[in-house]
Amino acid sequence: MGSATSRRYERLVTRKSPDGVEIWLNWAVRTLQPPVYIGYVQATIRKNGWAEIAFVLFHEFWGQGYGKESVTAMLQELNKTYFVSNFRAFVNPRNWPSRGLLQSLGFELSGREVPLQSRLRGRTGVGIEGRSLV
Ligand SMILES: CC(C)(COP(=O)(O)OP(=O)(O)OC[C@H]1O[C@@H](n2cnc3c(N)ncnc32)[C@H](O)[C@@H]1OP(=O)(O)O)[C@@H](O)C(=O)NCCC(=O)NCCS
Repeated sequence: MGSATSRRYERLVTRKSPDGVEIWLNWAVRTLQPPVYIGYVQATIRKNGWAEIAFVLFHEFWGQGYGKESVTAMLQELNKTYFVSNFRAFVNPRNWPSRGLLQSLGFELSGREVPLQSRLRGRTGVGIEGRSLV
C-alpha cells in the first residue's frame, strides 16, 4: 500500500470522483521558456454540467498575467473537450486578486455568500459565488 500522497495522486489521475459521477480535472501551470512550474488550476464538472473552477499561482508569479492566461486556457479546454459552458467559482470576499481575475474574465459576482471549504488552509470561511457563461 502506498503513502497517502501516492494514493491521492492515483485517485486524481482517474479524473473521476470516487462515486464516478463527477469529473475532477487538475492541470499544472508551467511557463514556456524557461520551463518553470508556477502553480495549478482545477475544475470539477458536476452532474448538472456546471464546472467549478479553482486556481493557485505561487506568490512570486502573481501580477504578470499568468493567472488570466492559465484560467482562460482551462475555460477553453473545458468548453472544447467537455462541452461545458457554465462556470462557477467560490472566492473569499477579501481575496481581491481572485475577485479581480474572475471579473476580468467576465464572471459576475453574485454576492450570494456560501460556506467555503478551504482545503488550502484547512478551515472553513465564507465565499462569494461568481458565474460566467462562456
Ligand atoms: C488569483 C491569482 C491566480 C491571480 O493570478 P495573477 O497571475 O496574479 O493574475 P493576473 O496577473 O493574470 O491578473 C488577472 C486580472 O486580475 C486582476 N488582479 C490581479 N491582482 C489583483 C489585485 N490584487 N486586486 C485587484 N485585481 C487584481 C488584474 O488587474 C487582472 O485584470 P485585468 O486583466 O482586467 O487587468 C493569484 O493571485 C493566486 O494564485 N492567488 C492565491 C490562490 C487563490 O487565492 N486562489 C483562489 C481560490 S480558487
